[in-house]
Amino acid sequence: MKKILVTGGAGFIGSHTVVELHNAGYEPILIDNFSNSLPSVLQGIKNITGKDFTFYEADCNDAAVFRKIFTEHKIDGIIHFAAYKAVGESVKFPLKYYHNNLNSLVNLLESMLEKGVNNLVFSSSCTVYGQPDKLPVTEDAPVKSAESPYGNSKQISEEIIKDTCSAQSDLRAISLRYFNPIGAHPTAEIGELPLGVPGNLVPFITQTAIGIREKLTVFGNDYNTADGSCVRDYIHVVDLAKAHVKAFELLEKKREGHYDFFNLGTGTGSTVLEVVTAFEKVSGQKLNYQIGPRRLGDVEKVFAAVDKSVELLGWRTELSLETALEDAWRWQQRLGSK
Ligand code: UD1
Repeated sequence: MKKILVTGGAGFIGSHTVVELHNAGYEPILIDNFSNSLPSVLQGIKNITGKDFTFYEADCNDAAVFRKIFTEHKIDGIIHFAAYKAVGESVKFPLKYYHNNLNSLVNLLESMLEKGVNNLVFSSSCTVYGQPDKLPVTEDAPVKSAESPYGNSKQISEEIIKDTCSAQSDLRAISLRYFNPIGAHPTAEIGELPLGVPGNLVPFITQTAIGIREKLTVFGNDYNTADGSCVRDYIHVVDLAKAHVKAFELLEKKREGHYDFFNLGTGTGSTVLEVVTAFEKVSGQKLNYQIGPRRLGDVEKVFAAVDKSVELLGWRTELSLETALEDAWRWQQRLGSK
């Protein structure tokens, strides 16, 4: 059975990817330092898969950890999620973001080259496009100057990986540019665990509906969109997780030095108010919300062109916005109102 190392394996997207790797016949090996996740996630994974996967509680900034893992296991590929991801925090503490997100990647790449581990799937973001000139945004759209140190750390990471692949190394890599991952596993065993006040829309909605937050503020209704609120491409985390398995399978067919990047989205944009309405429909809850000012740094609209992913990864999304919101709501109900 092929072994895939999943860094950040206890995180939101990491944990769902661990489950999909298992479903596809791979053995995931996890590393996480619980900086933005909880040990209970491992139990959730076990409840779904019936397996206790090998787990390393460690920090990816510690190069010795990768050497140890690569010595103890024959690793066929790595899916690298472990990184900080709070946009606002990254503006306040840029060095924290550059240090963690870039240092851990360089460590990982150096250890991979040293130990002859050749396949890397990297967790990137549609933030690299900024506000695209054309929509849906295709992968050949220009990378725009980043709005935050977080966004910049993703852009620089993609460059680091590309440069390493072209430096005659044996490395093969794919960056996956996520649009807006939402939802939870349909079993409600794993889902998103925001620490503190959620910055992202859907956890804020479900926390409001269950009574943790008083009301949602919709950040602006004067954008040039159907109802004035921002447009995003919301993708079910289970669909997103499956794309990582496809990316690894594609890498295995490629030659040394291969590097490519793909959009992971549904291809359809929804406004914030459409998400609110869809949530009210699937949950049967009336959501308390108000319209507020625009949030600094928000782009007006972005949604993915998916042709390249469909053609080359052989992947497309299967789950609807409604299903994602239903699953997010079931997960919130499981977490409760504390
Ligand atoms: C954000 C980041 C993006 C990052 C992603 C990671 C910004 C500008 N972008 O995406 O780089 O990759 O998170 O998770 O921060 N909204 C409200 N009220 C809320 C929360 C959100 O109206 O309380 C709106 C936002 O204005 C936006 C939409 O909901 O239009 C989605 O917001 P969010 O979930 O934060 O994701 P992004 O901003 O798209």
